[in-house]
Amino acid sequence: MRTASNPPPVIAIDGPTASGKGTVAMRVADQLSFHYLDSGALYRLVAFASEEAGISVDDESGLGAIASRMQVIFKDNKIFLNGKDVTKLIREEKIGTRASRLAIYPKVRDALLTLQREFRQNPGLVADGRDMASRIFTDAVLKVYLTASVQARAERRYKQLIAKGISARMNVLLQDLQERDARDINRGTAPLQRVEGAYLLDTSDLSVDQAVTQVLNWYAKLHH
Ligand code: DC
Repeated sequence: MRTASNPPPVIAIDGPTASGKGTVAMRVADQLSFHYLDSGALYRLVAFASEEAGISVDDESGLGAIASRMQVIFKDNKIFLNGKDVTKLIREEKIGTRASRLAIYPKVRDALLTLQREFRQNPGLVADGRDMASRIFTDAVLKVYLTASVQARAERRYKQLIAKGISARMNVLLQDLQERDARDINRGTAPLQRVEGAYLLDTSDLSVDQAVTQVLNWYAKLHH
């Protein structure tokens, strides 16, 4: 029997934008039959909802209020916000950029805290984001810092967008990625960082399969 001192295990996968951590995290969760949390989607939802409501990206209180009022449902690989399917809408680059801008505010981050921790359920959770290991699940059994070179990430993001029928320009993507990295790494609250004890996984030259296998191997080793 599990007790409060023995909560469901968490695998935390943090890393910069377009590093492939979402794909890897989802596949690892699938392999282990664990739940999956895409925490970035929550920040994107705040970005989307606040834009629709006409709330400025400088209005911390307004953004915090929106974040605490959102009704979010993750179902069958779709994301519903207040009953509306926004799966595709929140993937737009301008929403990602807006998410990164409002993610600097403590009121926004605090409003999403409980929501994120609710995903921790048996038999376990794979959570990806920026502060999964450093703040949300500090007791994660496995912490991975998953990254790739800026060039590799820009190319992946480009292919992703084109495949989805969204137009994109490589030089714009590269610049946006670098700006987003700087913002996520340098902010005062819960910045992107590789915490002590986190395994470094550079996927610049790895396939998704290889990255998934590496994470599963690290996880399997915990039990020996
Ligand atoms: O992972 P992503 O690109 O979907 O995330 C969008 C933005 O949300 C990212 O640039 C910063 C923010 N974010 C965050 O601050 N903390 C997280 N745990 C996840 C995302």
